Amino acid sequence: MRTTLSVIKADVGSIGGHIKPSAKLKETVERFVREKGKKLLLDCYVSSTGDDIALLMTHQHGVDSPKIHELAWDAFMAGTKVAKEQGLYGAGQDLLKDAFSGNVRGLGPGSCEMEFEERPNEPFVFFAADKTDPGAYNLPLYLSFADPMHCAGLLLSPKMAKGFSFTIMDVNHTEGDRVIELNAPEELYDIACLLRDNERFVVESVHSRAGNEIGAVVSTSRLHNIAGTYTGKDDPVCLVRVQGGFPATGEILSPYRIGHYVAGTMRGSHNGPLMPVKLNSAISFFDGPPSVTGAAFCVHAGKLTEPVDLFDHPFWDWVRNNVSQKAAEIRQQGFSGPAMLPYSELEYGGVVEKMGQLDTRFIVRKQAQAAGNGRKKTAA
Ligand code: F6R
Ligand code: MG
Ligand code: MG
Repeated sequence: MRTTLSVIKADVGSIGGHIKPSAKLKETVERFVREKGKKLLLDCYVSSTGDDIALLMTHQHGVDSPKIHELAWDAFMAGTKVAKEQGLYGAGQDLLKDAFSGNVRGLGPGSCEMEFEERPNEPFVFFAADKTDPGAYNLPLYLSFADPMHCAGLLLSPKMAKGFSFTIMDVNHTEGDRVIELNAPEELYDIACLLRDNERFVVESVHSRAGNEIGAVVSTSRLHNIAGTYTGKDDPVCLVRVQGGFPATGEILSPYRIGHYVAGTMRGSHNGPLMPVKLNSAISFFDGPPSVTGAAFCVHAGKLTEPVDLFDHPFWDWVRNNVSQKAAEIRQQGFSGPAMLPYSELEYGGVVEKMGQLDTRFIVRKQAQAAGNGRKKTAA
């Protein structure tokens, strides 16, 4: 049977700042999807990660189905109404347009979708991240699908011996989808060369080269590029099929032990380590740390099992302690150097405005002035 997995997510309001949606908001969105999607969907799972609500929906309408996208849009609209009634912070934040127009892409919510012929047993992992952007998945996907230091299957499983192909998007190109397809292992250095720049080049999908099967998809939209001004970070979602010809669940999780530094956290303008957290976690220290949840499922004839919370295990408590230390370390240097994002990535206009004002006060020294450090001479 051909099944489509669609994840559509948005931040439509939260309690106490950009922290966590209210239970009533989540319930409203979930009830809406279940009732209005009765005929459309085979199943759904609604969760939150930080201030974002994600709808994981299974159906048979393929990717980019206007009906599915409209259902999600309407559910977030219904949620926004409740968020406004409750006075939640940032109510309707990610719904950038007044009306739905065929696809949530470009309207604010993030989405990632994959369609495949179900295997007799079909395990997959759903990741959702908050206070960061889509490039946060670059390193984990590279390590899981292309590096035998994390994916033993690349050496041990003949099913994976041909490797995987990466479709990478240039997210700075806003006039259309600018993408490149590169093959691992032959083009590993080219892949790395692009993926080192998380803000510009983002893994959109990964396919197995043995069967040209879809293995992973990431939401690549950048709110920054859609709205022009700050509207929140993109808080990306990702789906990964696991086992058999794909990396095992544990190989997919292995890179999350690193807590690699990603863009995001406070005001979407800093670097912080990505912390694997339990499902439905809130946000805390310095509007972060950037957080990722992982839910494992099996899907059969479009029906989902209950989720397994992948980061709810004693091992990840140890990781969280280490990541907290990394978060505290980089915060020691406040705005300096790599702690704050470069000029082009700042999500707020304050620094840009200030630079404009300061620019008019800069002088270019004449040679005679240089000898006196360029300062006006005063009487001794
Ligand atoms: C980052 C984020 C928060 C806010 C910060 C200020 O993605 O959502 O760090 O940027 O809390 O929020 P405002 O400007 O809404 O007061
Ligand atoms: Mg928010
Ligand atoms: Mg968010």
